[in-house]
Amino acid sequence: MKKSLVIMATTLGLVSGLHAQDNVDKKAAEIVSKMTLAEKIGQMAQISIDVVCDGEDTPPTSTLKINNEKLREAIVDYHVGSILNAPNTRARTPEWWTKTVEQIQEVAMKETRIKVPVIYGLDQIHGATYTAGSTMFPQEINVAASWNPVHARKMGEITAYETRASNVPWNFSPVLDLGLDPRFPRQYEGFGEDPYIGAVFGRELIKGFEGDDNNVANPTKVAACMKHFLGYSAPISGKDRTPAYIPENVLLEYHVPAFQAAVDAGVHTVMINSGIINNVPVHASYELLTTLLREKMGFKGMIVTDWEDINKLYTRDKMVPSIKEAIKAGINAGIDMSMIPIDYKEFCNLLTELVNEGAVPMSRIDDATTRVIALKLRLNLFEVPNTYSKDYPEFNSKAYQQASYAAAADGITLLKNEGNVLPLKKGAKILVTGPNAVSKRSLNGGWTFSWQGEKIDEFADNYHNLLTAIQARFGKENITYVPGVSYKDVTEYATEYKDRFDEAVAAAKNADYVVMCLGENSYCEKPGDLDDLYLNDLQTELAQEMLKAGKKVILVLSEGRPRVISKFSSKVDAIVQTYLPGIYGADALADILIGDVNPSGKLPYTYPAYPNSLVPYFHKYAEEQEKSEGAYNYEGDYNYEYPFGYGISYTTFAYSNPKINKSVLALGSKDDIVISVDVTNTGSRDGKEAVQLYSSDLFASLVPDVKRLRRFEKVELKAGETKTVSFTLNLNDLSFINLKNERVVEAGDFVFQIGSSSADTNNKIPFTVK
Ligand code: BGC
Repeated sequence: MKKSLVIMATTLGLVSGLHAQDNVDKKAAEIVSKMTLAEKIGQMAQISIDVVCDGEDTPPTSTLKINNEKLREAIVDYHVGSILNAPNTRARTPEWWTKTVEQIQEVAMKETRIKVPVIYGLDQIHGATYTAGSTMFPQEINVAASWNPVHARKMGEITAYETRASNVPWNFSPVLDLGLDPRFPRQYEGFGEDPYIGAVFGRELIKGFEGDDNNVANPTKVAACMKHFLGYSAPISGKDRTPAYIPENVLLEYHVPAFQAAVDAGVHTVMINSGIINNVPVHASYELLTTLLREKMGFKGMIVTDWEDINKLYTRDKMVPSIKEAIKAGINAGIDMSMIPIDYKEFCNLLTELVNEGAVPMSRIDDATTRVIALKLRLNLFEVPNTYSKDYPEFNSKAYQQASYAAAADGITLLKNEGNVLPLKKGAKILVTGPNAVSKRSLNGGWTFSWQGEKIDEFADNYHNLLTAIQARFGKENITYVPGVSYKDVTEYATEYKDRFDEAVAAAKNADYVVMCLGENSYCEKPGDLDDLYLNDLQTELAQEMLKAGKKVILVLSEGRPRVISKFSSKVDAIVQTYLPGIYGADALADILIGDVNPSGKLPYTYPAYPNSLVPYFHKYAEEQEKSEGAYNYEGDYNYEYPFGYGISYTTFAYSNPKINKSVLALGSKDDIVISVDVTNTGSRDGKEAVQLYSSDLFASLVPDVKRLRRFEKVELKAGETKTVSFTLNLNDLSFINLKNERVVEAGDFVFQIGSSSADTNNKIPFTVK
């Protein structure tokens, strides 16, 4: 047996959370003690704004507005405590939001007995999604690709400000689900496949939303909502809201760290995974919601369900034989607020019956209501129930726009640049082709002024698409555009698109370069489910046709997940991954193509080469393992187009002089381990490099991962400049969760790897724990 040390008393150890029992909790309990059962249950109810709206939503002459009678029925008669969503999932102006939420607060604070303000929640994802004119950022996946957490902080600060400018104090963000599976339609909403990156960037985004001290009474801050707890992104099928099978030690090792970091960062609320793990719907899991999240992880904030998920315990999961039993299961598992979101009368009536019958204890209702009221107190909604758009002069200011541009420019990732074809020569004749060239949807993805991102054109007139940004930089006269294909299915449009192929190929003959803009249209959640991870047939065929023209071909990808491109990727000259770079993404891409910006993003996930090789970089078995063909080729499991952490630059970097301050430590030692390396910009342009430190446990009592990212830092280097980059860690960083679900460090040999990507094995440093 290996010598090992359990390094923390509880499963996760870090029981903390900002909001210890304090005056706010006492005050909340006092308020709750004066409430009737019906009033308490109302506080646990969240409805969609559509429930209290009337009219037709047909912009620009939409007649849609709140119906006061319906509003009163919900808030006065049923005591509903929370409202969410944008009507018809369409963005509204800050002024519209200010007025509408004010109207809701008027009723809640003047016409009810208890005068408790409503808490309004929105999905302000990658910027203030549902606020017209807001500063939309790149998606979380791009922010991770920047390897610079400053962008997460900025995105959080600006989104919070613009959300408060919309009179909304609560944001259903960040997504902390691990992006392990490129088939999953929400991979772009998170920070990629690595648990450590998720923890670091998630923390910064939360601090951006809530502030360093988590003082969300500050009217420029919002309460954050980490989601979707837990294991949402890892269903067997790769499709949204389908079953996952995840052992507890795996949940703790990979899925919990980002959520634990968020709890430690003081996050105020959490939303639950709509799926099923090990045949238990997470919304009915006492073990996950109460034992793990509350007791072991120390989360003290408020737990909200995802959309209609209590009802789904009955309607979808068939776990219980009625809605009433579903409500009982969810509330007893630990849910504080139900995003019902439509039939609130049923929820309120049935939960009242359950309490009266003793099936849901009053103590559970008091606990849940106290957490809701405490959240409203912390947001200072009792004193300041409204914030007004006119008080937010920085809304979509130049500085905010620049922050969004900077995040895009820092994240876009150059994957291939044969013969230094990029940057493109000024004055060159360029054919731009592919469906993404003229689509703002494909640059921004879902949650952009609408749920599926499909309404973006109503709101984003003033921004470039890829074509217009390229025209602006290279001169309109030098650019020809031929779409080639659309996203649609080849069988439906075969004849029409055959002609378009021919037109694109003919146009290529007159161009020096072909910039091929391929990828995905916008989507999120279920509508984004896929049957085939290959890039769609039409686009693949277009790429293959274009390559026959014999011109230099630059592939520009805009996609929410890495669609497989191996049918043609080896033949293109350059590949630039823009992910979903947001409202200034086209500008950033054009600046990279012309060379004004030196690309410095790196992949926050493994880019797979085949649909059956979907393994993250922290797979099992070392690279040194003897390779063999066919069924025994373990390393072939990890058959990537590009490895995790990979991205190149217009300059080159060299690593030298790797050092460690000590090569042996005794088990239990708290000493720092300091590892450094010299990084030199060996090219002729200034550039930025994300330096990455990995560790490998050579032998462990549970089969170890081949490597794990432990630290990273993005450094700026002038041409010719050398910097020493050093990282400090300790033995806890070498720990893992064992089969008893304990976090342990084991004695034995380790290797540190420091370099430019997960596949850069040039600088290795041995290390031993005795
Ligand atoms: C999504 C959540 C979102 C919620 C409210 C759900 O369908 O899964 O991420 O916060 O809707 O809009």
